Amino acid sequence: MMRFTSWAVALFIAVMAAGCTYDDLESLGTPFDCNTIDVGYGADILPLVADHCQGCHSGGSPAAGIGFEEYADIAGHAETMLDRMDRSPDDPLLMPQSGKLDSCSIVRFSAWIDAGKPNN
Ligand code: HEC
Repeated sequence: MMRFTSWAVALFIAVMAAGCTYDDLESLGTPFDCNTIDVGYGADILPLVADHCQGCHSGGSPAAGIGFEEYADIAGHAETMLDRMDRSPDDPLLMPQSGKLDSCSIVRFSAWIDAGKPNN
């Protein structure tokens, strides 16, 4: 009985520790009140990108040479954009550089990609 308990505790600690090392969509999970069904380009994706990305990624000389202004630009770079948003908070590649977005925004961006990036 003692033995089993120690193993269970060790396993629990190992699982918790592993959970802390990964900061990706799987460990973020989907917040229970996060709507991932109704994600629209015009209502959700474009406003998110406008608020958090276009400050640098727009205009005549956008950051990294990529503007995220038109549907084609955003849809064409969506996977790379998600990759840059879904990083550890201390990763220098994290976007936006000012700080990681809330998990629901990131999960919703991912859901939009999974839905086939509808231009709705
Ligand atoms: C404060 C300015 C700033 C903001 C805001 C910003 N970026 Fe960036 N971004 C940069 C700079 C500078 C680079 C080039 C350096 C690098 O790759 O990290 C870059 C590079 C990138 C790249 C890599 C492009 C490539 O070809 O490798 C992606 C993708 C990206 N940003 C996505 C985003 C997304 C998505 C957002 C919003 C959630 C965002 N960025 C917000 C400044 C910004």
